Amino acid sequence: MPLKPDNCTIIIFGAHSDLAARKLFPSLYELALWGNLPDEYRIIAVGRSSLSHEEFRQKVYEKMAVFFPKNVQDEAALASFFARLFYVGVDFTRKEEYHALYKEIMEGGAALAASHNLLFYLATPPALAPVIVRNLDHAGLGEKDASCAGWRKIIVEKPYGSNLQTARELNTVIGEVFHEDRIFRIDHYLGKETVQNIMVFRFSNGIFEPLWNRNNIATVAITIAEDFGIRDRGAFYEEAGLLRDIIQNHALQLLASVAMEPPVDFSADSVRDEKAKLLRSIRPVTPGNIGGVVVLGQYEGYRAEKNVAPDSTVETFAAIKFFVDNWRWKDVPFFVKAGKNLAETVTEIVITFKCPPQNYFGPAESCCYTANQVILRIQPEETIAIKFGAKRPGEALITDPVFMKFDYKTSFSEVGLTPYHRLLLDAMAGDQMNFIRQDSVEYSWAIIDAIREAARTKPPASYPVHSWGPESVQAIYS
Ligand SMILES: NC(=O)c1ccc[n+]([C@@H]2O[C@H](COP(=O)([O-])OP(=O)(O)OC[C@H]3O[C@@H](n4cnc5c(N)ncnc54)[C@H](OP(=O)(O)O)[C@@H]3O)[C@@H](O)[C@H]2O)c1
Repeated sequence: MPLKPDNCTIIIFGAHSDLAARKLFPSLYELALWGNLPDEYRIIAVGRSSLSHEEFRQKVYEKMAVFFPKNVQDEAALASFFARLFYVGVDFTRKEEYHALYKEIMEGGAALAASHNLLFYLATPPALAPVIVRNLDHAGLGEKDASCAGWRKIIVEKPYGSNLQTARELNTVIGEVFHEDRIFRIDHYLGKETVQNIMVFRFSNGIFEPLWNRNNIATVAITIAEDFGIRDRGAFYEEAGLLRDIIQNHALQLLASVAMEPPVDFSADSVRDEKAKLLRSIRPVTPGNIGGVVVLGQYEGYRAEKNVAPDSTVETFAAIKFFVDNWRWKDVPFFVKAGKNLAETVTEIVITFKCPPQNYFGPAESCCYTANQVILRIQPEETIAIKFGAKRPGEALITDPVFMKFDYKTSFSEVGLTPYHRLLLDAMAGDQMNFIRQDSVEYSWAIIDAIREAARTKPPASYPVHSWGPESVQAIYS
């Protein structure tokens, strides 16, 4: 049986955003099609242009036809979905315009219990979040407002703030309007089956966890690579850069999942306690040590992209050697590498074990040729591979690396939910397990702010498109 959340109204700020077009509307439509949305729901899209409900539905239809042509094949299902999709034109910065939104929420769905429970989704640039929250409060739409008759929750897209200070300021503003258990700081990586499986792999199997420490593991390497550039998001990228767009959230959350201690139980807070503790244990980068542990890069041609400054020093690549200063991981390097326009699109975590103490089966320099590895591939393939040495057939005793592989596609017949399906349902149900708590947000920003500060005077090194980054990246692996 599909999960049925409470009847509610979902209000999306950023009606015309790339995120809404590619992820939110298609996910909500599919959830409706599969029967996962409540019996009574409404979706209100909020954007700054002035459009009728019908005009907006037509726009959503056109985008869906481009991005998800199969979604527009069932006309009856689409018509039923569109009958519950509404549009309100609001400039997010103008508080007087929020009355129209209030009216649409409270009166447009007056006959529905849906109007008591409100889920706000901020699909907007991070700088707009505080002003939207203040204006919601002013319009009487905050959770702490006396008129609140059901639940009111808010999903805030990553990055949450743009540094430690703005993240704290944002939290103060949101905290005045919503209780902490109603704030959902989203990082869609945490909705991926393969990311959730990291903890299942570690904590539901007896054979890995005893080895999962500095006594047995030589290195951990996390790669988040894309073989395409910034596309048409130059303005966004100039503000964000790779460190804030990818490392502060996705990469550090992967690192926390792979390195955290076992939680006392599987409640949202116990898991988030361990992640926060792990992030707090990461050794800070300083101007004194940055040379050996951080390489930033920018792909050739970045400065000629649309809406990018001709002298931009924004990084599109980062390679960082992190250390986790705790008993489990002391002195084990965690190599984190991420970038745009790299050789391949792949997200994976490679855990490399120490070599055996003696090498019987090959020349001394090949000792680590067959070093054991656990390779957790997050995307595009969803696999886990274990690498080990095996005797090559023939007279000689020569070892070759071989792989045992688990693949989601071939092992399970069920199709998993995509991250946005899952996280929208989790937020409606009030489950915060896969959302980031404020303490983790702050520890992550402290790490990134320190790197940005230490790297301030050092422009990123240039690298060729479709390479693995600047040549200088080798320095951090030595
Ligand atoms: N795009 C993705 O795939 C993706 C994935 C993960 C996370 N995110 C996160 O989602 C958020 C949105 O990203 P995006 O790529 O979707 O951005 P986007 O396409 O630039 O959308 C931002 C939207 O905000 C609207 N806006 C800006 N100022 C406004 C104002 N004063 N009043 C009303 N509307 C205003 C813009 O409206 P106009 O259209 O009228 O200019 C635009 O539609 C970001 O935090 C991003 O990090 C995005």
